[in-house]
Amino acid sequence: MIRKFSYSPMIDTGAVVKKLPVSDTPLPYFTLTDGVFSVRLSDDACVYGLGESIRGINKRGWIYESWCSDDPLHTEEKRSLYGAHNFLIVDGDDRFGVFFDYPARLVFDIGYTDPDVLTVAPEKLALDVYVIDGDTLKDIVRQFRALIGKSYIPPLFAFGYGQSRWGYVNASDIAAVADTHESAGIPLDMIYLDIDYLDNFKDFTVNRDRYPDFEGFVRDMRARGIHLIPIIDAAVKREEGYSVYDEGHKNGYFCKDENGEDFVVGVWPGMSCLPDFLNPEASKWFGDKYKVLTDMGIDGFWNDMNEPALFYSEKALNAAFEKIGSFEGKTLDALSFFAARDVFTRLSNAREDYDSFYHNAPEGRFRHSDVHNLYGYKMTESASNSLKELCPDSPTLLFSRASYIGAHRFGGIWTGDNHSWWGHILQSLQQMPGLNMCGFLYTGSDIGGFNGNCTRDLLIRWLSFAVFTPLMRNHSAIMTRGQEATAFDDTEVFRHIVTLRYRLIPYLYNAFLNAAENNEMYFRPLSFDYESDPAAREIDDQLMVGDRLMIAPVYKQNASGRYVYVPESMNLIRMHDGSITAEPINKGRHYISVPLGDVVFFTKSPLPLAEPAGNTAELDMNHLTYVGEKLLTPNS
Ligand code: GLC
Repeated sequence: MIRKFSYSPMIDTGAVVKKLPVSDTPLPYFTLTDGVFSVRLSDDACVYGLGESIRGINKRGWIYESWCSDDPLHTEEKRSLYGAHNFLIVDGDDRFGVFFDYPARLVFDIGYTDPDVLTVAPEKLALDVYVIDGDTLKDIVRQFRALIGKSYIPPLFAFGYGQSRWGYVNASDIAAVADTHESAGIPLDMIYLDIDYLDNFKDFTVNRDRYPDFEGFVRDMRARGIHLIPIIDAAVKREEGYSVYDEGHKNGYFCKDENGEDFVVGVWPGMSCLPDFLNPEASKWFGDKYKVLTDMGIDGFWNDMNEPALFYSEKALNAAFEKIGSFEGKTLDALSFFAARDVFTRLSNAREDYDSFYHNAPEGRFRHSDVHNLYGYKMTESASNSLKELCPDSPTLLFSRASYIGAHRFGGIWTGDNHSWWGHILQSLQQMPGLNMCGFLYTGSDIGGFNGNCTRDLLIRWLSFAVFTPLMRNHSAIMTRGQEATAFDDTEVFRHIVTLRYRLIPYLYNAFLNAAENNEMYFRPLSFDYESDPAAREIDDQLMVGDRLMIAPVYKQNASGRYVYVPESMNLIRMHDGSITAEPINKGRHYISVPLGDVVFFTKSPLPLAEPAGNTAELDMNHLTYVGEKLLTPNS
């Protein structure tokens, strides 16, 4: 049962597709005092949800802010990342789900200030709250997902392996990626084009010095089974004579400052303007621009910098230059030195800037910070609407960095600029179920880590986990150490792991389609499947994948195995040197040896496997073999 409570929302966010009448009962579970919702947590209560947020699967014990943030340092003390996913399940003496449909900043204090109290504080009391009661955790999720609409389903090729790097400068760099993977026998379906393909970082352009025959190149790559997936950034370079800017400026499609002038911000292209995705005309205009690339044979995109990320605003930058001048010639003590240093570092993603531009939505004019969390979502919706018209016969791949619940209907997301840190394998695993609860099924993180330098063992362990994430993309930042599956000695081990992914696609893709169709989670914490098992409730480094598989990846440096909790008798499946074997394993806690390069996982029933394939187009989904057919002898 879902009950809706309404506190004069300013805008229909579009997150909810099933319109419900407002409940005439008092708000259950919570008290509402001075605009803050609060609920007591029983001693054993777990709190699940919050989508992409950092920290464990059980969110209790930290404070989180719902505020889409461009933050490349995903450390434990952070409160927000790129997504705003305001859905929680409280599982204690009371059990319920709750969604705060609110597009501005919202703070979830989940036992941070008072260990036994959860508070939810919107900046303004202007929101809808949906409270969901259900028989099981899965049932609560199912009801919530029916409320927010079906999840985006990508084309099959999006389940292949993708290689990406900021810094592949030109067509020959990209061709080299295809060549090296091919000669190492590592399957590959996608190569991503980061901002390097653009002419001066201008959206919907191609740098013709770097790609003299882009269309031909796209075609040649497709003939080799590879889809090129370009990036699209939110901001449009301010440059007279650049048609996208000229049109947007002339038609009033950019966000405005308080005087009605285009609000100007610095991002990759330098001074730029922000398309007003809340204005339906502007949204349609920007979405239709993807035609420039679909006409060249492109069938997949990643939308970026759409929190929106602001390195600085033109206004704040000018003020900063003035301010820094005031320090010149003075003797600086430590504090004034730090103040001088921070004049520029404080410019990025500043709240004052988000407060000082406006959207022109059908409901009226909105200050950006009152609708901040909708920006990336509306950019994805804009692209999705146009792509459906531009490519009516085949679905396109689309995912975004920033998001709000609702965006899950239009595309996937990736988890942004993580690091080549062991802890970020675990972080990624722990983000997955929260995202799935909120409808984001097509998701994954930058394999090997985006920032920092990756090592061979880190990449092997990361890939061994990412074999199971719908989005399986190796991506890294410019100036970091190369981390392609071909970058280290002995490519054999990488070939085996990526090949395993392809052999599992019939199971994984089917599990994904089932989850999308039936509003289920593809990744689940063990506690969702084994509700009455107290041991399962404690596990936050293993996941259920689809209806018959469990993963327990190794995520520690120099580990040669790990403890695994097996919640019922299963088969232990081991991929070693490309061959796949099964042996039964009993319920209980086991130390499992997992030498580097082996991939180990667990199944509840026979698992279909395809023959190895070089890409998804070559994958034969009709002739499958089964592993673990005759095993599973409980407690033998
Ligand atoms: C942002 C993106 C990253 C991309 C970079 C350059 O940091 O998150 O994936 O490589 O911009 O476009």
